[in-house]
Amino acid sequence: MSNRAVVWLKIIVHALCLLPALWLLDQYHNGSLAMQADPVNYITHFTGDWALWLLLADLAITPIRRLHTSLGWMVRFRRMVGLYVFLYATLHLLTYVLLFSGYDMPAAVAGLRAGHPAELWTQLKLIWPSMVDDVEKRRFIQVGLAAYVILLALTATSPKRVMRAMGGKNWQRLHRLIYVAGIAACIHYWWLVKAGVRTPWKVTAVLIVLLALRLGYSFRKRIGVEKRTVRAEPLQER
Ligand code: HEM
Repeated sequence: MSNRAVVWLKIIVHALCLLPALWLLDQYHNGSLAMQADPVNYITHFTGDWALWLLLADLAITPIRRLHTSLGWMVRFRRMVGLYVFLYATLHLLTYVLLFSGYDMPAAVAGLRAGHPAELWTQLKLIWPSMVDDVEKRRFIQVGLAAYVILLALTATSPKRVMRAMGGKNWQRLHRLIYVAGIAACIHYWWLVKAGVRTPWKVTAVLIVLLALRLGYSFRKRIGVEKRTVRAEPLQER
């Protein structure tokens, strides 16, 4: 694929990944968000869903690319999609901290406007004990937090210079944790729904297929059936 085509594709992928966030912003501006039965719950679910869907899309890039040598260019999109996973997961976490947990946003903003930026921190300190209590009590939050910490580590080490500094093998090993983040996110979903609700089954089925493909590839490589067919950016192999 020509460089020009890749640039256009990158613009399209950026636009597609930003679309949900822009749509949410538009819903806020046109007032339809406020019409939701529970707007905070809606934003939490919306951002959580997109973080997980993009994570699965990111994981799907490698097996699709392996279908044919001509698809090697797809590897260039994995880092980009990965950064959007982190963006939506961060919005999800911020929704939890700033809206879900009773953070006094008007007081924080009023303090900021009055020239007291420390008010942002003061408000966070006020809700901190109840948030810690919530994390201790609810295991679905614990596993969600674990998924987020992994995504944070992967995002921090995603620049190419960090990859080079770490060495290809170490970088690969660390970045395989994306599968663990996917598993943790699915567990997070199963543990938060009420008993008997089966909504997370679709994302779980997609994750199982992607994991099976990854394990199958590792196995074939080990027994020597699989040869490395794609030379482009081999360090980014996961
Ligand atoms: C950073 C730590 C996290 C916290 C504190 C957190 C918190 C929450 C909360 C409070 C809910 C709503 C629960 C309810 O309805 O009672 C939720 C739902 C959800 N979260 Fe998280 N989460 C975290 C990380 C993640 C991550 C990393 C992902 C995905 C990559 C994720 C995906 C989801 C999904 C898919 C839902 C359900 C959405 C739906 O029902 O449509 N969460 N999370």
